[in-house]
Amino acid sequence: MKWNVNTYSRNAPYVPQYGETLLAMLAPEPGEDILDLGCGEGSLTEKIARLGCNVVGVDSSEPMVRAARQRGLDARAVAGENLDFADQFDAVFSNAALHWMKSADKVVENVYRALRDDGRFCAELGARGNVGTIIAAVYRRLAGRNLDGDDYNPWYFPSKDEYCARLREFGFVIESVDLFRRPTPLVTGIEGWLETFAVPFLEDIPQSEHGEFVREVVAEVEGALKDKDGRWFADYVRLRFLARKGRR
Ligand code: BEZ
Repeated sequence: MKWNVNTYSRNAPYVPQYGETLLAMLAPEPGEDILDLGCGEGSLTEKIARLGCNVVGVDSSEPMVRAARQRGLDARAVAGENLDFADQFDAVFSNAALHWMKSADKVVENVYRALRDDGRFCAELGARGNVGTIIAAVYRRLAGRNLDGDDYNPWYFPSKDEYCARLREFGFVIESVDLFRRPTPLVTGIEGWLETFAVPFLEDIPQSEHGEFVREVVAEVEGALKDKDGRWFADYVRLRFLARKGRR
């Protein structure tokens, strides 16, 4: 996925805002070594650094990493599937990023290895059903063009049981886990959301038809995601957990 930092910051300011309560769950202590996995443009990474932690941010997007570095952060362009840290961090933090990493086993294995004994893994990701209304509409509009949404879908939204089983399999002890709906107000409407996040689905649609495609999706989801005052919401479903590296 090609990220545009400006589009992202304009259309999805709620991502770091909702991440604040996840930070509280992480409860970083000054002097701790923390890895921010999928750090994006670094706004939460910066908050962790300001709390006196030694924080490394990693993200697979070069433009995001550049933006994070401009904040003076130690940010590196590495995908979660390719992390090669070992026994280096007191905690791994990840907000709204794990669902972009489809090789989830590899990622959890890498996070486990990156942590010191008793280190914690504190994360939130989209869970099964996340943005389900939007995805269903996108799939239908793709099918109308003889395209299969599965060929373009960049996300992995696991169920709670599935992700917990994976965490345990790799040696984590789950301290808390929560699955909840979070209807999320979209400040720039559904068009802004699609412009930011639905790019992979447009890959095989000619540029000249993108506008029409987006209009079709908007018309399909309007009844479900726009309230009577004209405010748009996305149907987010979140999985949040705090897990600890057990000794194997
Ligand atoms: C999410 O945070 O759940 C999300 C963000 C962008 C696209 C899909 C899901």
